[in-house]
Amino acid sequence: MRTRCRLVLFFLTVGACGLGAQSPPSSPPTNTCLDCHLIFEDDEHLGVPAQLFAGDIHAARGLTCAACHGGDPREEDSDKSMDPAKGFIGVPKRADIPRLCAHCHSDAVFMRSYNPRLRTDQLAQYGTSVHGQRLRRGDTRVAVCSDCHGIHDIRPASATLSRVHPLRLPQTCAGCHSDREHMKGYEIPTDQWDEYRASVHYRTLAGGDLAAPTCATCHGNHGAAPPGVASVERVCGTCHVFQEQLFDQSPHKQPWDMMELASCLTCHGNHGIQPTGDFLVGTGEEAFCINCHLEGDGGWETAEKIHAALVGLDSALADAAGLLDQAERAGMDVGEARLVQANARESLIKARVDVHAFNAARVEETVESGLELAAEAHQAGEAALDELAFRRKGLGLSLLAIAFVVFSLWLLIRHIERGKEEIIYKHEQ
Ligand code: HEC
Ligand code: HEC
Ligand code: HEC
Ligand code: HEC
Ligand code: HEC
Ligand code: HEC
Ligand code: HEC
Ligand code: HEC
Ligand code: HEC
Repeated sequence: MRTRCRLVLFFLTVGACGLGAQSPPSSPPTNTCLDCHLIFEDDEHLGVPAQLFAGDIHAARGLTCAACHGGDPREEDSDKSMDPAKGFIGVPKRADIPRLCAHCHSDAVFMRSYNPRLRTDQLAQYGTSVHGQRLRRGDTRVAVCSDCHGIHDIRPASATLSRVHPLRLPQTCAGCHSDREHMKGYEIPTDQWDEYRASVHYRTLAGGDLAAPTCATCHGNHGAAPPGVASVERVCGTCHVFQEQLFDQSPHKQPWDMMELASCLTCHGNHGIQPTGDFLVGTGEEAFCINCHLEGDGGWETAEKIHAALVGLDSALADAAGLLDQAERAGMDVGEARLVQANARESLIKARVDVHAFNAARVEETVESGLELAAEAHQAGEAALDELAFRRKGLGLSLLAIAFVVFSLWLLIRHIERGKEEIIYKHEQ
């Protein structure tokens, strides 16, 4: 019976879609389901699904309510339109939803007629995820398609209003994963959203840079891990390529493999990743290194050297920048020195990446080239200030000379006027 229902549903949906399969119809298709359900207005169960449907991608593509529910959307009478004999299934059970959606979404030929670029492997991928595996074993508290995409207001994944848009996705996942009641009985924390919300990644994303990862960037949209990585633990290297390459050649690679530690997570964590700085390497209180290394061992020594090198370059750069600022405020042109200073800063940035080789000599080499540039910028700053002093001296001298000339002129004029006065006086006598 079930299979027959499915078959009928299939033919009816395809029949219903068939009318406008190639392109959306110019006028909306007959949809008595919608017309009648709209009468129930704000009724949560009967009216709201119909109201929401206006913003749904399936409606926009000319599909009707029967696409998912079956039945006959041309019959005005509720008994006839919602007739199980016409494939009407009522409210789909949670456990059946992935296959209901995949009915179309895994049908490559059917989907291609609408959008050739759309993937058709969602169900297959979903089957590999913890959600899909648990659902198969009868756990219906996991996410099914409609939990992430919505039910009657499904949008294209790229739309800003979509529940799976990068900025909205965290809340969608958190709907379950931060809900202690919902997650009761599972042995996993419920802090992912709280942690992620405070991370550099989320702050970068919320600042409008969509290059930062959201939940599904690391966990995969549908599958257990995003394409191209064997496990979620390895996902960091897809973006932070150099750090991963350096780590894989570092003295940590082997002990990490032996202890089965995840390469990046051991130091940085996964959800609450914080901004980094030179205080994290070395033997200070907040340094990662002191969690494992003891005074006197090779790691401790290296940590101290790396820290000293980075801090040295950082302060050399600060000095040079201070001089250049001072010269610039006084009106000197320091454009070229600024370029040198920027190159020195590049070296510092590179040295901070080099930290991941956990090799002092490597960091020191990069720092050395940065120090040379910083010294060059520093000299340029000093030269500009010397030049300024010289010009000031010159200006002072010329002011003096001008004052002298003015004074002499004044004396001369006085002298001439006195002469005139004497002549007049003599004349009057
Ligand atoms: C003439 C009005 C009318 C038409 C046409 C109509 N419905 Fe309904 N529908 C109702 C009413 C009233 C209910 C609630 C009572 C019931 O379950 O029969 C309902 C219930 C439902 C339910 C919930 C069933 C449940 O078990 O809770 C679904 C789903 C549904 N309709 C979908 C459809 C679809 C799909 C169509 C078109 C193929 C459709 N309806 C056509 C009036 C209508
Ligand atoms: C893309 C598939 C899809 C389409 C199209 C669709 N529905 Fe649904 N509908 C579902 C799913 C899935 C559920 C069950 C959701 C759940 O688990 O609560 C559902 C539930 C319902 C319910 C029960 C709601 C409740 O709270 O009990 C009604 C009524 C309903 N749909 C009516 C409609 C009407 C009317 C339309 C057309 C305007 C429509 N649906 C179009 C997938 C769809
Ligand atoms: C009757 C076939 C059919 C069924 C059943 C169906 N869909 Fe769709 N779906 C489509 C078509 C056709 C499109 C439009 C593709 C396009 O033109 O971009 C679409 C589009 C989508 C999109 C937008 C894709 C994008 O990013 O552009 C999502 C998300 C989606 N469907 C999810 C679902 C979910 C979830 C369900 C089950 C609750 C479901 N669909 C059931 C046919 C179907
Ligand atoms: C755990 C949440 C989640 C579940 C469950 C889920 N999806 Fe998705 N889906 C996503 C995310 C995230 C995207 C990608 C959004 C993006 O591209 O930014 C996506 C994208 C899509 C797309 C657009 C094309 C693509 O593959 O990128 C379709 C169609 C789709 N999903 C259908 C489905 C169907 C059908 C199911 C059930 C078998 C399903 N989804 C289950 C989260 C989910
Ligand atoms: C409908 C509720 C629900 C939604 C929405 C949901 N999940 Fe889940 N998820 C669960 C449940 C329940 C489990 C099973 C917990 C377990 O494995 O112990 C689970 C398991 C997982 C696991 C495996 C945990 C483990 O190590 O066992 C990951 C990872 C995961 N979800 C990520 C996500 C992401 C990312 C999203 C959003 C794109 C999401 N989930 C949306 C309910 C949900
Ligand atoms: C930067 C990548 C990244 C992002 C972004 C991310 N995760 Fe994770 N997540 C991981 C890694 C790595 C693990 C650990 C996997 C392991 O140990 O196998 C993990 C573990 C999990 C687990 C298993 C339980 C746990 O906490 O260890 C769940 C559930 C989960 N993440 C959900 C989410 C949700 C929900 C979001 C968005 C709010 C999210 N993740 C964002 C990388 C990420
Ligand atoms: C989708 C790409 C992507 C993935 C995957 C990713 N990141 Fe990031 N990460 C970024 C972006 C973008 C930034 C912010 C800009 C920047 O500082 O480079 C960032 C910032 C960081 C920072 C802070 C850098 C700073 O400025 O202090 C650390 C640390 C970091 N990520 C570690 C990780 C770790 C660990 C993982 C894996 C669990 C990971 N990232 C996964 C893209 C990614
Ligand atoms: C043993 C601890 C440790 C491990 C393991 C580690 N990092 Fe780092 N990471 C650091 C330290 C310390 C810094 C700060 C460097 C600085 O600013 O001086 C850092 C900085 C970063 C930054 C900021 C940008 C930069 O390079 O300055 C990113 C991004 C980053 N790490 C990514 C990763 C990735 C990806 C992995 C895994 C391949 C990883 N880290 C593994 C200690 C570690
Ligand atoms: C999770 C523990 C852990 C952390 C954190 C850690 N290390 Fe290590 N490190 C090890 C282990 C284990 C070894 C291999 C055994 C050994 O040589 O001490 C090692 C080896 C090294 C070595 C090679 C030592 C040698 O004599 O050949 C260097 C260098 C090193 N670590 C530097 C660092 C630096 C710098 C940091 C901080 C940014 C750091 N480590 C953080 C565990 C750690």
